[in-house]
This record gives sequence, C-alpha cells and structure tokens, in this order.
Amino acid sequence: MVRAIGESRAPHRNPLPGTRPEGSRDEREAGLRVREMFGCIAPRYDFLNHFLSASFDKLWRKRTARRFSAILQNPDARVLDLCCGTGDLVFAFAAENRKIRAAGPQLIGADFALPMLKLARQKNAAVPSKITFLAADALALPFPDVSFDLISAAFGFRNLASYQSGLREMLRLLRPGGALAILEFCEPKSGPLAALFRFYFTRILPVLGGAISGNKEAYSYLPGSVEKFPSPEILKDWMEQAGFRDVKYECWTFGAVALHTATR
Ligand SMILES: C[S@@+](CC[C@H](N)C(=O)[O-])C[C@H]1O[C@@H](n2cnc3c(N)ncnc32)[C@H](O)[C@@H]1O
Repeated sequence: MVRAIGESRAPHRNPLPGTRPEGSRDEREAGLRVREMFGCIAPRYDFLNHFLSASFDKLWRKRTARRFSAILQNPDARVLDLCCGTGDLVFAFAAENRKIRAAGPQLIGADFALPMLKLARQKNAAVPSKITFLAADALALPFPDVSFDLISAAFGFRNLASYQSGLREMLRLLRPGGALAILEFCEPKSGPLAALFRFYFTRILPVLGGAISGNKEAYSYLPGSVEKFPSPEILKDWMEQAGFRDVKYECWTFGAVALHTATR
C-alpha cells in the first residue's frame, strides 16, 4: 500500500511533510532555522559526529560509498551529494575511487549553510581532488534536468523543510538509470538495544552535544527530528510514490541508520 507524504501507517504518529524545528511555523521558517542551526554548530560538527557516534559515522559513509563503487569508477560520471555539510560523504566517495587509482567522476557537494561549506572547502584544499563545493538549497537546485548519475544525502534528507520537494528535485536531476542514496538515522523500535539507544539519543547525546557545541537547541533538535522522521518503510513508499524504481533499504548498526537506494 502506498501512503501519501504526510500520512502514516501508525495513526498516532503522523510524519510531517518536512522538518519543523521548534518555533518554525512553515516551510520557509523551517529552512531558515535549519540553515542557521547548522551554521552555528559547524566548527564542532565533525568532532561531535565522530565522538557521539563512536566513529560509526565514518563506517556508514564508507559503506555507502562502497555500494556505488561502479559509478565512482566511471570518469564520465557526475555525482551530487546534497546537504553535504563539511563534505565527509563526498570525501568517502573520493576515497572509494582512489582505491582503484583511476580518474574519478566529477564530484559536487552542495549545502546551504555557508560555515559548513567553508570547512568542506578547507578540507578539500588539503587533499586536492576533483571536488566542487557549492552553496545551494536542495529544494531548488541550480542544475539542469537529468544531469547526474548518482545523487546522495547523508543525514541531510531528514532536515529538509519539504520531503516531497526534495525527492522531486532528486528525480529531476538524475539521468535515467541514475542512482539515489539516502542515508539517515532511524529509531530502533525493538531488540535488546532499542531502550539503550533511546536513552543515549534522548538523554546523553543532547547534553554532551549541547555542552561541547555550545548550542543546546541543535542537539535537542537531533533526537526530536529522528523521532518525527518516517520509518524506513514509509520513506520507501514515498520514494516509490515520487517515481523512483527499485527502491530498497537496509538497516545498519542494530537499526540505528538506514540506507535507502533507488534508481530513476
Ligand atoms: C546533519 S548535516 C549532514 C552533513 C553531511 N552530509 C554529513 O554526512 O555529515 C545536515 C546538513 O544538511 C544541510 N541542509 C539541510 N537542509 C538543506 C537544504 N534545504 N539545502 C541544502 N542543505 C541543507 C544542513 O545545512 C547541514 O549541513
């Protein structure tokens, strides 16, 4: 059964049409709040990502890159990482390509928080490669139709102010046969680690993240946004409904994250 975006299998938990950080009344305000929030935490973002996930985040991005090894070996391919933040998924793509020592595809990272992009560019300068980082809103991208072979978003899709517009843009930009990868946090619902995960995510992480970044709001937003985000099954429905084919997902690390993949 296909559910409409905004409609949930569980009647008590209606996923939102996009993220809505506290205090934002509509899509426009949500986008502004998200951009401001990530701009503020940019200086401590990488450190906190690795620290709070015990460096599992590196493994998740590496695994994602490995899935798309074939595209990353094609020097004619064009790859766009949306919501790229400080660029770690793009760097994982570049590293995957370096393993085969061939000329890589054109890699582009896009994000609308300028302090995040500044850090991505600094990291890129240290390892010269075919990567371009540019400022762009994932809901209105400055690229012509059918121009990419792979579009990805790691821990970014959940932060879009409109999931429907995000999927529409991704579909518009992919070439026929092109691939989509969405890596996101999920909430393990059962199993021995579900309660532990919940305790860590809602009690420990906001306190540590808030104290280290100096931005309590951003690290309280994180568990809240994961809780409100649709389950992997619902996201799969939405992707199919948006027009993607071969939509699949796999959950990693006891269900803490899910990688959704699809083709256009
Ligand atoms: C949690 S970070 C993820 C960064 C990176 N992909 C990673 O793996 O660490 C989410 C990023 O999404 C960006 N973002 C959220 N909404 C966006 C939008 N509409 N357009 C562009 N970037 C967006 C934020 O600025 C932030 O840098």
